Amino acid sequence: MNHLGRSPFPLIPEGWYHACHTAELSRGPVGVAVGPAKFVAFQGLRGRAAVLDARCSHMGADLSRGCVREGRLHCPLHDWRYDGDGQCVGIPASEKIPSFARQATFPTAEIGGHVLFSNTLRAPFPVPFYDGVSPEALLPAAPFEFVVDTPWYMIGANAFDLQHFRVAHDRTLRSTPLLESPSPLARRITATYDVSGTSWRDRLTRRFSGDQVVMSVTVWGGVNILVTATFRRTTSYGMVFVRPLEGGRTHLRNIVWIPRRRGVVARAVLDPLDAWVRRHFIRAFVMDDATRSDGVRYNPATLIEADEEMSRYFEWLARISSGEVTKGEPHAQHDFVGGSGGVLPRHEFGSIGGADDSSVAGDTGNGSDDRRPDAGNQPAAPGTD
Ligand code: FES
Ligand SMILES: [Fe+2]
Repeated sequence: MNHLGRSPFPLIPEGWYHACHTAELSRGPVGVAVGPAKFVAFQGLRGRAAVLDARCSHMGADLSRGCVREGRLHCPLHDWRYDGDGQCVGIPASEKIPSFARQATFPTAEIGGHVLFSNTLRAPFPVPFYDGVSPEALLPAAPFEFVVDTPWYMIGANAFDLQHFRVAHDRTLRSTPLLESPSPLARRITATYDVSGTSWRDRLTRRFSGDQVVMSVTVWGGVNILVTATFRRTTSYGMVFVRPLEGGRTHLRNIVWIPRRRGVVARAVLDPLDAWVRRHFIRAFVMDDATRSDGVRYNPATLIEADEEMSRYFEWLARISSGEVTKGEPHAQHDFVGGSGGVLPRHEFGSIGGADDSSVAGDTGNGSDDRRPDAGNQPAAPGTD
């Protein structure tokens, strides 16, 4: 809510959500709540991950409490069975399968061993990734997660909150931030900071990585946040999945990636160690935000001139949330933005109708357009009816 009592942001933003690690699906279905909506991920035929509306089309039982046998998801209440396309393919008590016996299915993608899904029947944008980097070139560390008592739209705003970097992170701004819009649904801020803290972590960072860092943060739809931290001697990558919870709280799942080394031994020994160390450092950096963000709320009336980039971020997010951005065609499953080597280039998904955002350098690209067939004939998505 803002000071007028009405939020310019939806309860549930559209984007890519993290379901689970791929290996978890071999143990059974996994439920994911996004606000009041519930989804279920499971392993369909040939090991393909599928994500469906978790409320059974029969009487609404929670399918994530069921089981998976031979690529079919079994409802825990009356054992109706669904395939990876959401179609009911068996009812023990009936030979006939009614036409309503069908679950909405959602676009899925697997990246670095993680299952992602779009919470809309058509993904609002391709799965974001780092510019010029393919997922195969990076090794993900084990995710870490936490919950903050602040609404989802505050999370991306943190990157545009220039005041807080010195206070919360001991990073002193060294350059005028560069604002870009790689797509109408993405906003990026890039700036150079001194690593100016006196903690043992910052001392080690200065010694082994460098005393300055160029940090680039790209926020897609307020939901998917990609961070690149480039030091003189190394680059780290962070990916944050923002998930609204009920009651205005937000769950964050963070994945740290490191560039893979060449050579079998280096990959087997050094890479996991490197990933573990950097995860530790980045977790500490992110926890500096988490511990300070409880109770933080958006009120445009209390923002000052020093908050200008953050204000612009909120205005942009309100614009894309209000439908002023006309979405283009949806992308096929497994599309990625920003990568190379088998990864599709960035694609413009829409244009901001009537919005003049002259603060942002446009760079919309004109990528390939592999359209997802047949998402129109689906039952309603959870939370939309
Ligand atoms: S509620 Fe799922 S089969 Fe009856
Ligand atoms: Fe922060």
